[in-house]
Amino acid sequence: MESASSMIAIERLSKTFETSRGTSHLALSDVSLDVAQGEFVSVLGPSGCGKSTLLYIVGGFVNPTAGVARVKGRVITGPGPDRGPVFQEFALFPWKSVLGNVMYGPRQQGVKHAEAEAQACALAMINQCSDKPGGDPAVVEARSTSRIRKKVHSAVRWANVRS
Ligand SMILES: Nc1ncnc2c1ncn2[C@@H]1O[C@H](COP(=O)(O)OP(=O)(O)OP(=O)(O)O)[C@@H](O)[C@H]1O
Ligand SMILES: [Mg+2]
Repeated sequence: MESASSMIAIERLSKTFETSRGTSHLALSDVSLDVAQGEFVSVLGPSGCGKSTLLYIVGGFVNPTAGVARVKGRVITGPGPDRGPVFQEFALFPWKSVLGNVMYGPRQQGVKHAEAEAQACALAMINQCSDKPGGDPAVVEARSTSRIRKKVHSAVRWANVRS
């Protein structure tokens, strides 16, 4: 049951995908879940039970067929800076530099290039890799994947704080 303190409120969500074969596939059926601020929730289940679909709906990447999902009381209608997926893979853009990857979040929030660059350098502590600020992320990733991911995450969080 949704309470006033809900950070995320998922109410009777269902999702049916239309497949390329012209059939319908029920991925989620009547799911309700309430997440309070600061609460840590794990969604467990066998492959194909709809975990990713649920997260995509909360992320705003997929629309539910029925039911409603809210963040801080607002109905989710699309992606927003108040929600950030962290992928199992590192999900870096290989065609962008390290700095370009770190700046991606702030730039998507409309922060001007120079400001995003300055803030990304400062907040993501890119001075630690200042020998290769324009380096190929694949090269740096091989050296220190978790560090780069943290930098990207920091930049996105920074963008979120500003919005
Ligand atoms: N775009 C889509 N079109 C058709 N069916 C889909 C689509 N996306 C997911 N499905 C189906 O919906 C069901 C739920 O998929 P989902 O990816 O949410 O499961 P999951 O619990 O995350 O699985 P896993 O543990 O393997 O990641 C699966 O049967 C999947 O094949
Ligand atoms: Mg999944």
